[in-house]
Amino acid sequence: MVTVVAAATSEARRAELVSLFNAVSSCTSCRLAETRTQVVFGSGNADAELMFVGEAPGFHEDQQGLPFVGAAGKLLEKLLGEIGLTRDDVFIGNVLKCRPPGNRDPLADEIEACQSHLFRQIELIQPRAVVTLGNFATKLLSGSTAGITRVHGQQQKVRLGESEVLLYPIYHPAAALYTQAMLGVLEEDFRRLPELLGNEQTPVASATAAPEPSEVTSTETAAVEEATQLGFF
Ligand code: URA
Repeated sequence: MVTVVAAATSEARRAELVSLFNAVSSCTSCRLAETRTQVVFGSGNADAELMFVGEAPGFHEDQQGLPFVGAAGKLLEKLLGEIGLTRDDVFIGNVLKCRPPGNRDPLADEIEACQSHLFRQIELIQPRAVVTLGNFATKLLSGSTAGITRVHGQQQKVRLGESEVLLYPIYHPAAALYTQAMLGVLEEDFRRLPELLGNEQTPVASATAAPEPSEVTSTETAAVEEATQLGFF
C-alpha cells in the first residue's frame, strides 16, 4: 500500500514537470527570450536522487535544446562515468534556461526572472543532493555570496521551498577544461559524491516503480509519454 502511494506520487510529480516544461518553453519573462533559439529546460531522470545545476545554456545547448551537450558536457559525462553513472541517472539543469548572447554572464535581473523555474524543478524532482556547478548556481542556491573557490567540496543542508536537500558546490566543468589544477580538484570533489549519498557501491538513480493506474489521469499519462518520446525525462 505504501509503495503504491509513493509510486503514484512520483508519476504525478513527473507529469507536473512536463506541465512546467510546456509552460517554460514559451517563457518571455526576460530579454533572453528575444535572442534564444529555444529554451533549455533541463533533462535526465525526473526522479533522480542527484541533480546538477549549471549556469546557462551555451551555443550548442541553445541549438539542441539540451543542457551540457558541448565540451563541458563531455567532461561532466566522463566524471559521471567514473562514479558509475550516466546522464540518464541524474537530472541536469541550469540557473538560466536561455542562452545569454555571446555566452556572457547571467545578469541579476535574468536570474531573478528565471529562478522560480529552477526552484519548482527541485521541488518536483525532490533530489537528495543538488550539485551546483560554479559560482552562479552555488550563490543562488546557497543564498550566500561565498564564492566557489572557498566553498567547493563542502556540503551543507539547505531548505529549498518545501524540500531539504544536500547542497554540494563544485567547480564548473567549463572552468576545469583548460586548467589542470582545477580539473584535479573537480575530480576529487566528484569522487566524494557516492559517499555523500551513502551509496558507494551502486549507481544513485532511484528506480521508478509502475504507477497505480487508477491514480494517474489519462492527461497525465499522455503528457508523460510525450516527454519520454522527446527524450527530456
Ligand atoms: N554550461 C552551463 O552552465 N550549462 C550548460 O548547459 C552548458 C554549459
